[in-house]
Amino acid sequence: MALEFSERIRRIPYYPVAGGYAQEELVLLASNESPYPPLPEVRAAIERELATLNRYPDPSNSLLRRALGDRYGVAESRIAIGNGSCDILLAAGEALLEPGAEVVYAWPSFSVYPHLSAASGARAVTVPLDSSERHDLAAMLAEVTVATRLLIICNPNNPTSTAVALKDIADFLAELPPHVCAILDEAYCEFNLLDDSEASIELLEHHPNLVLLRTFSKVHGLCGLRAGFALCGSDDLPRVLDQVRQPFFCNALAQAAAVEALAHEDEVIARVTRNLAERESVNERLRALGLVLADSQTNFCWLHLGAEREEREVMSGLRERGVLVRAGTPLGCEGALRVTYGTPQENARFLDALAELL
Ligand SMILES: Cc1ncc(COP(=O)(O)O)c(C=O)c1O
Repeated sequence: MALEFSERIRRIPYYPVAGGYAQEELVLLASNESPYPPLPEVRAAIERELATLNRYPDPSNSLLRRALGDRYGVAESRIAIGNGSCDILLAAGEALLEPGAEVVYAWPSFSVYPHLSAASGARAVTVPLDSSERHDLAAMLAEVTVATRLLIICNPNNPTSTAVALKDIADFLAELPPHVCAILDEAYCEFNLLDDSEASIELLEHHPNLVLLRTFSKVHGLCGLRAGFALCGSDDLPRVLDQVRQPFFCNALAQAAAVEALAHEDEVIARVTRNLAERESVNERLRALGLVLADSQTNFCWLHLGAEREEREVMSGLRERGVLVRAGTPLGCEGALRVTYGTPQENARFLDALAELL
């Protein structure tokens, strides 16, 4: 007899994972990862921690929260840690949402957001991006009701790569009713040239309902370990997140690596600089191929193939040439591709393969 799953399972969308990993010599440009391996000091910290693996990890993530508190000037009680920032996102959905409640977010945006409403039975209110594929903050504000518990702004936005100015977000927050928890998902903020990535932290002092969601997966290149964090305007959310999650949600290696990574900010900046140089040169070549690109403020680009090119054919042509990128259709936009900027060699392989196909 077939197993009978819950109604929730029928609602929860299947996360569109990148395929093709079994092939050898792949160019991995599908998941917005860092092309650079962990720093030697971070690897050494992981190795030191290996000897303790007979013990559970620190359940309160105290060293990591202290390091983050020192780094960002936010009280430790207002910092939440997660098994990746997705863990915090999903737990926030569980803590805030239920049938009758509403969650507002833009679309297309990060593919995990639809899980929050599906898992909780809350209503998802999706707001189309504007004509430049940016968040339409005025339209989002117009959707807020007494039932809205959570509103998410992904800045810069995955998958469209665009960002809105922090000044506009500050004006938006000033209008947002205080009963709404506002998550500003800043997974890629270090790559955003519109604003300093430190600037949003000041907003926390004025908005107890604000949560800045950040991660060690992208700029710090630690997605293989899973560590994310949230800087919060009050200590309410960190407290309830721990009520809905399993204990020891952040493993010991991830905690040790993240603490060490924070001590090497100079290298983070150097990596961002390299990435921005690649962004410039890849975008230039893509435009020369006649492709339309969104204004990328991240470590990936979002390009439109145009009416005469089939997304599926381009995807399979790239895969045959060993290049993995992300197709637009499962991300909410047919005829688009999301491509992470890699090393110069990886980018050259992608661009040569694409030029051949077009
Ligand atoms: C916008 C956005 N938020 C959050 C995440 C989750 O990152 P992690 O769970 O690895 O911290 C991602 C990952 O791709 C992302 O694109």
